[in-house]
Amino acid sequence: MNNLPSHIAIIMDGNGRWAKGQGKSRTFGHEKGAETVRAITTYCSQHPEIKQLTLYAFSTENWKRPKLEVEFLMKLLERYFKKELNTYLEENIRFNPIGDLSAFSTSLQKTILNVSEATEHCTGLVQSLALNYGGKDEIIRAVQKLQNDNIPITESSLSETLDCTQEVDILIRTGGEHRISNFLLWQSAYAELFFTDTLWPEFKSDELETILTKFKKIERRFGGLN
Ligand code: FPP
Repeated sequence: MNNLPSHIAIIMDGNGRWAKGQGKSRTFGHEKGAETVRAITTYCSQHPEIKQLTLYAFSTENWKRPKLEVEFLMKLLERYFKKELNTYLEENIRFNPIGDLSAFSTSLQKTILNVSEATEHCTGLVQSLALNYGGKDEIIRAVQKLQNDNIPITESSLSETLDCTQEVDILIRTGGEHRISNFLLWQSAYAELFFTDTLWPEFKSDELETILTKFKKIERRFGGLN
């Protein structure tokens, strides 16, 4: 039987290098990267076996980047959410931010929550964007919440308290590096990992389709025997 690629997670790497290759600034790469976000999200929303797409947009470590690049990314995110709200609604996509949003400006937090609330009723693809997200931070916040609520820490209580409560089936990283970079550490325990040299602005749905075809043929044993 074929595996269903229910939850796809992507580390979108390579915007800066792609822009450099074009003789442009890194910010131009992020602009193009946002277009790829739109295209890949649309592709996933048109394939009903894909229930969830989780994208790593800004990590807890990305604050270490030059101030101007961080400011640009914040503005790009704000612009993107305002512009894309209609697309989410038209494509029946529910937007679900994950990560610690409290570090963002009040205005960006409002914009993010507005899209999340406005799409709450959507029943198609769930697009989770990881924003000021780190896998370690997510686990610590969940453990602290369980402790504060006096709930015993078990595998299921912790899974249910994380920002992202779904196991990942396919974890893709573009841009040629072979690491997980603190993304969905708990949820990727049994994910199938795919690394591609393609830089994120050049990642197209036909490459995703090739990955899905490979994934469907994998024998997943989850530590057992078949
Ligand atoms: C990593 O590439 C990319 C990021 C840290 C930012 C990801 C942002 C986007 C894809 C665009 C904005 C997203 C949305 C949802 C509008 P890099 O810049 O580190 O590339 P490099 O490794 O080539 O330097």
